[in-house]
This record gives sequence, C-alpha cells and structure tokens, in this order.
Amino acid sequence: MRAVVVEQGRAPALLDRPEPEPHDGEVLVEVLWSGVNYKDGLALRGDPGVARIDPLVPGIDVVGRVVSGHGVAVDAGDLVVVNGAGLGETRPGGYAERVVVPGDALVALPEAVSPRRAAAVGTAGFTAMLSVLRLERDVAPGDGEIVVTGAAGGVGSVAVMLLARLGYSVTASTGRLETESDYLRSLGATSVVDRAELAAEGRPLQRARWAGAIDSVGSSTLASLLAQTSWGGVVTACGLAQGSDLPTTVLPFILRGVTLAGVNSVDAPPALRRTAWHRLATDLDLDLLDSATAEVDLADVVDAGRRVLAGETRGRTVVRVGA
Ligand SMILES: NC(=O)c1ccc[n+]([C@@H]2O[C@H](COP(=O)([O-])OP(=O)(O)OC[C@H]3O[C@@H](n4cnc5c(N)ncnc54)[C@H](OP(=O)(O)O)[C@@H]3O)[C@@H](O)[C@H]2O)c1
Repeated sequence: MRAVVVEQGRAPALLDRPEPEPHDGEVLVEVLWSGVNYKDGLALRGDPGVARIDPLVPGIDVVGRVVSGHGVAVDAGDLVVVNGAGLGETRPGGYAERVVVPGDALVALPEAVSPRRAAAVGTAGFTAMLSVLRLERDVAPGDGEIVVTGAAGGVGSVAVMLLARLGYSVTASTGRLETESDYLRSLGATSVVDRAELAAEGRPLQRARWAGAIDSVGSSTLASLLAQTSWGGVVTACGLAQGSDLPTTVLPFILRGVTLAGVNSVDAPPALRRTAWHRLATDLDLDLLDSATAEVDLADVVDAGRRVLAGETRGRTVVRVGA
C-alpha cells in the first residue's frame, strides 16, 4: 500500500509499505479520506512532541471502510470515522491506503454525513463540537456574546458555524481581518475582532464582554478571555496556536465564578465520541462546511501541512486517499 512516511533525518515521502494487520481489539480500515489538522502539520515536519514513533505515518483522522476486525464486532464494508486515539502520533495514522485502528475509538459514520464531509469535520470539527457540548451545559444562547478565537482555522471555523446554527451570537477573533472577515460572517459570525486586541497582556479582570468563549490559541489570549468573561461564564481551551503558557490569576474564578474547561479529543471516551458525531450530523450545516473545505491528494499533503502551520489555510483541508 502507499503511505506518507516521516522518518528522522529524511524528508517525508510517499512510499510503498507492507499492509498492516489488526491485533486483538483492533480493526483494519481501508482509508477513503483523511484531513490536515494543525497537529498533522507538526507531525509532517517531524516535531518530536507529536511524532512519537519513528518512522511515523501521520494523519490523526481516518474515514473509511471496515475490512476486518480482530476480537471486535464489526461488519466488513461499514463506513466508520476515527479521530485521534493515537493515530498519526503514537501509532500509524490516516495518510495510508490501509490503517489499523483501536476498535473502541471507531464511530459508525452517521447516514447524513458523507465520507468526504466527515473528513472535513475531522479532529478540528470534532473538537469544536466537544467544546460546544461543554459550553452549552452552562451557557444558553440568550446569555450574551460568545467569542471564538483562531476563528479562520479549523476548530474555530466549525465552532463559529455550530454556535451560530444553535442560536448563539458569535464574535469571531482573527489575525486576518482584511481577508477573512467576509468568510467569517458567511459562517454566521455577527462581528469580527482583530486577534491583537485579545493577544495583548492586560489586567487580570476587565470589562465583562463575553458569556463564554471557545479558544484554540492559549497564552495571553486565553488569559484575556478569562479576564473578560462575565459572571458564571465558561471558557473552553483546546489549543496552543499562540502558546502553551497561561499568564493569568485566580481573580476571574473567585470573583466571577468563571469556569475554564479543558477539551481533549484524542482520548475522548467512546460514548462521548458517539454523542459528538450524532450532534455534528444534526447541528452542523454541511453545505456551509463544503464552502470552508479545500482538498488535496496524498502526494500534496506535506505542503498542506506546512501551510496549516504557517496560518495560511482557511477552514478545513481534506486529503483524498482511496476515494
Ligand atoms: N485538545 C485537542 O484535542 C485539540 C484538537 C484539535 C486541535 N487542537 C489544537 O487547537 C489548535 C487549532 O487547531 P486547528 O486544527 O484549528 O489549527 P488551524 O486550522 O491551523 O487554526 C489555528 C488558527 O489559530 C490562529 N493562530 C495561529 N497562530 C496564532 C498566533 N500566534 N496567535 C493567535 N492566533 C493564532 C489562526 O487563526 P486566525 O488566522 O483566524 O487568527 C489559525 O488559523 C492547535 O493548537 C491544535 O493543536 C487541540
């Protein structure tokens, strides 16, 4: 089979590899589509924080057809989706014609979602849904403005779409005001702000502007969100596009009862995976998602990864593998 292989000391390359075999609790999947996430960009350049095995086949998302299972009840031919679960990090991932996945991370593809669209959702969209599921536990659409950071990126774009469809009023924060404002409004944002406003380090408690926030950039931006969130609000944190630090104080928590909620997609338990995919099938405007999706072939994935890391992409990029 063909696979993109990253090996320390060598440029990533599309190579012929032996077909993998499933062991107990695993399922062999014929890959139709994968995607390009920020983390895939890191793996493609051999970042040791993500590329945890050497050599590595990157690709944290897999959408495909079941070939066979080992000690797992699956039907050959079923369409499935897997996000994270170590794929493309600690085990070979989706940039290959066949992949072995852990059986408990596999979700049956909802009928309403085509394989290509499921790849367009990908880990980024799945993570956006996990963030929305957490936010809506404490914040209702009438409670006030929700701000989404890294809005023109993968997680951000899907978060804006989901929140707007659910009736929340959404402010999108982007570093690309000139080129991406119209795009973000087309996804449902009611206003767009320059990310520099939030990235600047400020006082630990500021004017309350947000009922909630979905953040994928971290660092001083996340600190600003906490400082600007109103009483009882929720700020979800899933990413570190700006940085992994968090220069904040306890004041937003003890004076405004703000909640900082961590979001992790990689190790999400099976029931939460199914809930999130069910909600994606019902709450995401898939036609709108198409308008935010670009496509590349397996041979072009290295350049696509570089562009994601450089912040040059908009929305989501799917990778055609065997479709
Ligand atoms: N916890 C999890 O399970 C999980 C899952 C998925 C993703 N993530 C993380 O979430 C983040 C976003 O992932 P993604 O796939 O959406 O990536 P992406 O498509 O590259 O989007 C990231 C966006 O962040 C903004 N950004 C980039 N550099 C920035 C900087 N220096 N300061 C402020 N904003 C910056 C840009 O948006 P604008 O151009 O609009 O400003 C960019 O489009 C990554 O850190 C990723 O590792 C975590």
